[in-house]
Amino acid sequence: MPPGTVLSLPEQFSLVGQRIVVTGAASGIGRATASALARLGAELVLADVNSLKATCADLAPLGVVPEAIEGDLLAPGAIDRLFASGPVWAVVHSAAIVPSQIP
Ligand SMILES: NC(=O)c1ccc[n+]([C@@H]2O[C@H](COP(=O)([O-])OP(=O)(O)OC[C@H]3O[C@@H](n4cnc5c(N)ncnc54)[C@H](O)[C@@H]3O)[C@@H](O)[C@H]2O)c1
Repeated sequence: MPPGTVLSLPEQFSLVGQRIVVTGAASGIGRATASALARLGAELVLADVNSLKATCADLAPLGVVPEAIEGDLLAPGAIDRLFASGPVWAVVHSAAIVPSQIP
């Protein structure tokens, strides 16, 4: 890139071609993070024990079709599935039980 080139913010923070796993992507922080990463061009692998339909619907207008993995991440082999489709650049681990929701 020639000296003095000025990049826009989306160009500076571009995640085009980067594969990122987001757990807990069906709601809350994980769902919001999936949208933010998709806007920067990331390829997404989403995981949650609940349905990921709504999150996928968020991403559709952006032209992003994530790999959606529904199931309990505590199940045997579940973590391996997140990394089965290719090299992963980053993981956003947001799957959790919020303490106030524990009976
Ligand atoms: N929301 C906040 O203000 C806040 C602030 C600080 C920390 N946190 C922490 O961040 C984390 C996420 O918070 P949130 O508000 O997005 O919660 P959330 O409940 O909206 O999202 C958590 C997601 O994790 C999924 N999940 C839980 N257990 C799973 C499992 N075994 N396998 C697969 N998916 C599973 C749930 O289905 C849910 O969709 C929590 O640990 C919370 O304590 C949240």
